[in-house]
Amino acid sequence: MSQTDTSVATDAAIAYLREHDTEHLAQLDEFLRIESISADPGRIDEVRRAGQWIVDELTRLGIERATLHETSAHPIVTGEWMKAGDDAPTVLIYCHYDVQPADPLDEWIRPPFEPRHENDRVYARGSGDDKGQLFMHLKAVEAWMATANRLPVNLRFFFEGDEEVGSEPVEAFIEEHADLLRADVCVVSDGDTFDDDGTPAIGYGLRGIAYWEVRVHGPRQDVHSGQYGGGVDNPANVLVRMLASLTAADGRVTVPGFYDRVRDLTDEAHAAYAALPFDEGAWADETGVPGPMEGERGHSLLERLSARPTFDINGIWGGYTGDGAKTIIPAWAAAKISTRLVPDQDYREIETSMQAHLASIAPPTVRVEVRVIHGGAPAITPLDHPGIGPASRALEAGFGKPPLFQRSGGSVPVVAALDAHLGLKTLMIGFANPTGNFHAPNEWMSLRNIRDGVVSLVHLWAELGAMRASDLRAGEPAPRR
Ligand code: BES
Ligand code: MN
Ligand code: MN
Repeated sequence: MSQTDTSVATDAAIAYLREHDTEHLAQLDEFLRIESISADPGRIDEVRRAGQWIVDELTRLGIERATLHETSAHPIVTGEWMKAGDDAPTVLIYCHYDVQPADPLDEWIRPPFEPRHENDRVYARGSGDDKGQLFMHLKAVEAWMATANRLPVNLRFFFEGDEEVGSEPVEAFIEEHADLLRADVCVVSDGDTFDDDGTPAIGYGLRGIAYWEVRVHGPRQDVHSGQYGGGVDNPANVLVRMLASLTAADGRVTVPGFYDRVRDLTDEAHAAYAALPFDEGAWADETGVPGPMEGERGHSLLERLSARPTFDINGIWGGYTGDGAKTIIPAWAAAKISTRLVPDQDYREIETSMQAHLASIAPPTVRVEVRVIHGGAPAITPLDHPGIGPASRALEAGFGKPPLFQRSGGSVPVVAALDAHLGLKTLMIGFANPTGNFHAPNEWMSLRNIRDGVVSLVHLWAELGAMRASDLRAGEPAPRR
């Protein structure tokens, strides 16, 4: 296709989106009403229904081999359209269709699975993370197929139903089905734009994660704290003492060897962070904290939020938590704990060193059990990847401003897995709103980001379609940061 033809076709696809806007938003609501909570064993069928909904949509759009694959957990969806020609690039699109649990339910203004449109936003669980973004990809494909009956690039689709619970089945799936996933570049839409004023972003990093459950066991059963206090070591006291010792006041993790593989920021990387417009006061207000924590010296808040590792207690329980007082030494206490990791930390190494460290600091008066829940590798993508230019132009065309480059603090385990198994590099192009209540009550996404984002994707396929596959794959530049 000539350049003029492509630009005429792009305009037609965008006009199609404008004409079908109302209808598309209603269809998004239909998708968001499916309660695809991957963590909830009672919703297994709902997760499957969301996967099947996507398969049916892909098929309707003319995507071939749209398939719901069984896995050890929830299904994985794949499909492809490979008719753009041998020379044309092949792009793998990844998003996830599972969502986080919706509790605390009474903090939602409207029920989480009854989408509410208000203030130019759609509120629903999964609106931003990540069903809304997955849906945007379906609409960009639809716009091309409905107006040109073709796409400018070959597309493959990889949609997961376990992202929010650790992506357990994806490694095996990537190994077994490499032929369904092979591509010149991957596009992941599971992050956010730079701000809520329509400044788009290209992500160049994600943190990894390691997650455990710790249980401290004491007496055979709860005992009277007057009768036994002073003689029986209290498992809850021991647990909080142990966990408190895992971080220093500045947040640095005390587990031996924890920082050994952390790649320090280069001067260039510090400068890139410093150049980003970021208001710490506004960030604190928005978050509802009196101010940011002290944090590691030599790193700005923005750096600490994405380029440095962290330790957190995600939940802690045990003993008496009912009304009034009950004087006991509990038989046990437990916590869910996790660390966010950065390149080149290895989550398997960290899993082991945390277990060994906790065992080494446990007093002999209790029994400590540490169980790994899940892990995922950090990722960083080179900023001189040949897909960055086309992606920047596409985002500027859609949002009316050029993108900023940001590293995200969250984790998407598939990104590192695709690189490790298939050598596949990822362009992280997220469309959700940074304050859009991911994992929280009243999750939302702005309609503006949905519209401008879909238009960006229509442009992205045109931009990449103007390249040859070999140019997009070209060079494996050494990571710069
Ligand atoms: N979409 C998020 C990750 C994310 C958040 C990326 C914000 C960029 C900006 C993803 O769905 C997520 O929540 N991942 C989990 C992974 C975990 C369960 C292994 C996370 O980060 O906690
Ligand atoms: Mn997500
Ligand atoms: Mn999430």
